[in-house]
Amino acid sequence: MVYGCGSVGLRIASAAKAAGLETSVGGRNPAKVAEAAAGLGVPWRSAPLDNPAGLASLLRGVQVLVNAAGPMAVTAPALIGACLRGGCHYVDISNELTVFLRAWPLDRAAKRAGITVVPGAGFATAVVEGVAHRVLRKVPDAGAVTIVRSSPGGNRSGGVRRTSSELLAAGGWSVEAGQLIRTPDSIRVFELPEGPRAGVPIGSGEVFAVARATGVPDVAAYYTSRLGPVLSRLAVPLARHWARTGFRLPSAPGRAPAEHGGPADPGGPGREPSRVWVQASNSRGAVAEGWAEAAGTETTAAIAVEAVRRLESGGTAGVLTSGALLGPGAALAVPGIRHGG
Ligand SMILES: NC(=O)c1ccc[n+]([C@@H]2O[C@H](COP(=O)([O-])OP(=O)(O)OC[C@H]3O[C@@H](n4cnc5c(N)ncnc54)[C@H](OP(=O)(O)O)[C@@H]3O)[C@@H](O)[C@H]2O)c1
Repeated sequence: MVYGCGSVGLRIASAAKAAGLETSVGGRNPAKVAEAAAGLGVPWRSAPLDNPAGLASLLRGVQVLVNAAGPMAVTAPALIGACLRGGCHYVDISNELTVFLRAWPLDRAAKRAGITVVPGAGFATAVVEGVAHRVLRKVPDAGAVTIVRSSPGGNRSGGVRRTSSELLAAGGWSVEAGQLIRTPDSIRVFELPEGPRAGVPIGSGEVFAVARATGVPDVAAYYTSRLGPVLSRLAVPLARHWARTGFRLPSAPGRAPAEHGGPADPGGPGREPSRVWVQASNSRGAVAEGWAEAAGTETTAAIAVEAVRRLESGGTAGVLTSGALLGPGAALAVPGIRHGG
């Protein structure tokens, strides 16, 4: 079952059905969910997140729930709780640090319930983990990994804009010497394959996932800014302040100082790719880099569907990163993802 019939939820449900998986959809608004289900030709159920009994009947007989309702910092706690109670595997496509921090302490509970909880089974997080593993093959004793993500302009869905605003409001977080810490807003300039770009520190799920999955002690993530470094230094504290007061990032291209990695609304005009660049370095100065890119949300749908397939075939329990579930190279092998380095 895919919970959340927004742009990405519909794409995942459609990809799951096309892959031959027994598919249904769910969500909080019965009219919207029924309409989406009719369009896809699949069954549906509806329950809001604040109704545990409703969520229990929503999940009855469901083997895997894919949460596509975002921001997932809001939706994941209730849905993971319902999955634990109902014995249903949980997958989401979040790249939100809060979701990972909430999920990880539930490892024992998930094992007791015989379920697997997998945050981050989308382009953001799964692909970053894949690139990090590739880069670390060249510098196996790396002490630091730096992630830089660029997301497309164009139309972005309400879910992506709300999620981006929450990430912006949360400020920068990184892992240093294995500890998650708040990072100052120091803007850095990176030489990316597409040219020099200013990067704004951000606390995304991939910081946590890459640190967990690789054991590298220092991991930091940046999102590129459409403004140069000088303007970014001025604009980012202001943008973070606005985001904290409830201001939502606009949809028009070029107006946001930093953006979340969710691909553009597939219905919108922007087919510019989401890009990720990963650099690893060790204490002797050895450095290796890798990158990946994909346009649209098809790749996120394909990764989520692949995660469902793996969970259906059984053999896992606990809380896993998507890379741990799929295997280090699997996300990069998804059609539509270009990678190199
Ligand atoms: N990892 C990745 O690469 C990746 C890629 C794309 C998107 N994403 C993430 O996926 C999420 C969805 O994106 P989207 O483009 O599909 O957004 P969208 O089209 O705006 O849809 C958002 C969906 O979430 C539901 N929702 C929001 N808050 C809810 C709540 N409190 N309770 C129940 N349902 C709720 C909405 O339900 P209603 O229709 O009832 O309002 C809607 O179905 C975002 O968080 C985005 O950042 C991740």
